[in-house]
Amino acid sequence: MTLRPITRDDQDEFIGLVRASVDLHHPWMSLPATPQEFQTYVGRFDDPLSAEGLLVCVRETGAIAGNINIQSIIRGRFQCGSLGYAAFAPTAGQGYMSEGIGLVLRHAFEQLRLHRLEANIQPENEASLRLARRHGFRKEGYSPGLLFIDGAWRDHERWAITSTMAGEISVPPHPTLPRH
Ligand SMILES: CC(C)(COP(=O)(O)OP(=O)(O)OC[C@H]1O[C@@H](n2cnc3c(N)ncnc32)[C@H](O)[C@@H]1OP(=O)(O)O)[C@@H](O)C(=O)NCCC(=O)NCCS
Repeated sequence: MTLRPITRDDQDEFIGLVRASVDLHHPWMSLPATPQEFQTYVGRFDDPLSAEGLLVCVRETGAIAGNINIQSIIRGRFQCGSLGYAAFAPTAGQGYMSEGIGLVLRHAFEQLRLHRLEANIQPENEASLRLARRHGFRKEGYSPGLLFIDGAWRDHERWAITSTMAGEISVPPHPTLPRH
C-alpha cells in the first residue's frame, strides 16, 4: 500500500467508492457523496498544519482503498492529532487499512513529529476497535456524547498511541515543542 494526500482531482473515484460503501460506513462514518460535498471536504485539508487528508492506495494500481485523516493537529506542549478513517467496500477486509494505519503512524511520528495520535471510537464499532488494538493504541477513557454522528451525540471510547509506545524514539522534537 502507499499513502498520498487527497486532492480535488480524486473527486469522481472517491465519490464512487463512498456510494459503494454506504452499508460498510453506516452508522459509523459519513463521507462526501456529491461533488459539492467533496470539494468542501477537501478544503478542510488546505492548511496541512491543522489537518492532513490521506488516501491509502494499492501500490500496483493506484486504486484508492481507504482514507485516513489526521485532524485537529495541535502543536506546542500537546503535539497531538486525531485520526479518522474508513475502508472502501471493494477492498475492505483484506488488511489494507491495517497496513495504511501502520504507514500513517510512521508518517505522523517521523515526518510530522507528533507525539500522540488519538482515535475516538464508538463502543459498538468492533472493526474499528480491533484495528486500533492491533496497532497498539491504548484505551484511555470514555466520553459520553463526544461526537455528533448519524444524527445524535454519541458516546466514544478514547484510544491513543504515543510515539514512544510506537517505538519512535530517534526523531528530534518538533521545533514548536517548548524546551522546558
Ligand atoms: C474499521 C475499518 C476501517 C476496518 O477496515 P478493514 O478494511 O476491515 O481493515 P483491514 O482489512 O485492515 O482489517 C480487517 C480484517 O482483515 C483481516 N486481514 C485479512 N488479510 C489481512 C492481512 N494481510 N493483513 C492484516 N489483516 C488482514 C484482518 O485479520 C482483520 O480482521 P479482524 O478485524 O477480524 O481482526 C472498516 O470496517 C470501516 O471502514 N468501517 C466503517 C468506518 C469506521 O468505522 N471508521 C472508524 C470510525 S472510529
